[in-house]
Amino acid sequence: MPPKLLSPVFPCLIFLTLLLLSLYSSLLSQPPPAVPPPNRPLCNLFKGHWVIDPTSKPLYDHTCPFHRNAWNCLKNQRENMGLINSWKWEPESCALPRIDPARFLGLMRNKNIGFIGDSLNENFLVSFLCVLRVADMGARKWKKKGAWKGAFFPKFNVTVGYHRAVLLAKYQWQPKQSTVDDQDGLKGIYRVDVEIPADDWVNISDFYHVLVYNTGHWWGYDKFPKETPLVFYRGGQPIFPPIGMLDGFKVVLENMVSYIQKQVPVRTLKFWRLQSPRHFFGGEWNQNGSCVFSEPLQEFQLDLWFDPRNKGVNKEARQLNHLIEDALQGTGIRLLDLTHLSELRADAHPAIWLGKKDAVAIWGQDCMHWCLPGVPDTWVDVLSELIRGSLETG
Ligand SMILES: *[C@@H]1O[C@H](CO)[C@@H](O)[C@H](O)[C@H]1NC(C)=O
Ligand SMILES: *[C@@H]1O[C@H](CO)[C@@H](O)[C@H](O)[C@H]1NC(C)=O
Ligand SMILES: *[C@@H]1O[C@H](CO)[C@@H](O)[C@H](O)[C@H]1NC(C)=O
Repeated sequence: MPPKLLSPVFPCLIFLTLLLLSLYSSLLSQPPPAVPPPNRPLCNLFKGHWVIDPTSKPLYDHTCPFHRNAWNCLKNQRENMGLINSWKWEPESCALPRIDPARFLGLMRNKNIGFIGDSLNENFLVSFLCVLRVADMGARKWKKKGAWKGAFFPKFNVTVGYHRAVLLAKYQWQPKQSTVDDQDGLKGIYRVDVEIPADDWVNISDFYHVLVYNTGHWWGYDKFPKETPLVFYRGGQPIFPPIGMLDGFKVVLENMVSYIQKQVPVRTLKFWRLQSPRHFFGGEWNQNGSCVFSEPLQEFQLDLWFDPRNKGVNKEARQLNHLIEDALQGTGIRLLDLTHLSELRADAHPAIWLGKKDAVAIWGQDCMHWCLPGVPDTWVDVLSELIRGSLETG
């Protein structure tokens, strides 16, 4: 009966138990796993949620000398600026500390940070400059051949610069040469040399210790309509058969990434900032699209707004992000994924408060750039935390 059947199993069970016990005790005698030092969160800063924190205050105001007028929402008296700046980003499993500008600049002493890309990176730069200036009021505008703008922080010998290169690759206008074939309305082309970086950011690699790249919102038919399209060249010849905008984007990414891998020293910290989304509601930028919101979006609304499958007007960011992530696989360039945290903030664009009387009538609302102070200050917190983490671990 049962006991008899069990009997051969019984010694086995004892043996197994003893084995497990000895394994367990040997585990116990191991040193405990290393505890991460405080403030060095092993966590994903890109995932989380916004919470109201009434004690949260911006580090600068409308008087920062590095402002661009159209983003200076305090000066332009955008509604709700107090509320916009009382939201705080909380990553899922750790705290994101607010940057300590003096400590950060101390860490960066004798080092330089460069932003390369389009106006969304410039938006980021302006926030960074205004935040850092708190620790060095002697900060002054800085300009050098090839760099569009930036600032020098004399107390710390730190330069933070911006190189405007909206497609990253070199591109130039070529008026139409023949008048024969007129029916298509072509006025000329923008020739893009897919393997050649724009002049604005060649020969800068030795100057910077940290570089932040981006490109994205210029890759659209509103910037390059069919009368003045992008035409892609490689090795000085038009690519044949011709490729469209998204394929061109992919080829340019591959080439720029491989240029960076070859030309920028390994020790340089490299980040690629993913797209921050646009928030045009009810139509495109030139069709009365609007973003006069007073609160962030809710998590459950995001896919409807941004998932390319829903074909909304704001699908571009996620669409391009997929291609960027593919191109960065296996490289030394780190993703700075600010998309999700920014997707939630439909309330934080300059919208109709652009500081110029006719700007909205001419350009539509600005639901793409960001109010300063505002969401880019959180981008600064995230980037500075990642830089700090990297520099302190060596
Ligand atoms: C300032 O920093 C640069 C590197 O960015 C370095 O070459 C230079 O020697 C530094 N100047 C001083 C006075 O330390
Ligand atoms: C970059 O440096 C190379 C070599 O010094 C030089 O030939 C080239 O003209 C420079 N390009 C720009 C845009 O400054
Ligand atoms: C945008 O709004 C203006 C004024 O309300 C209106 O005249 C125009 O037709 C609208 N345009 C579109 C594309 O909806």
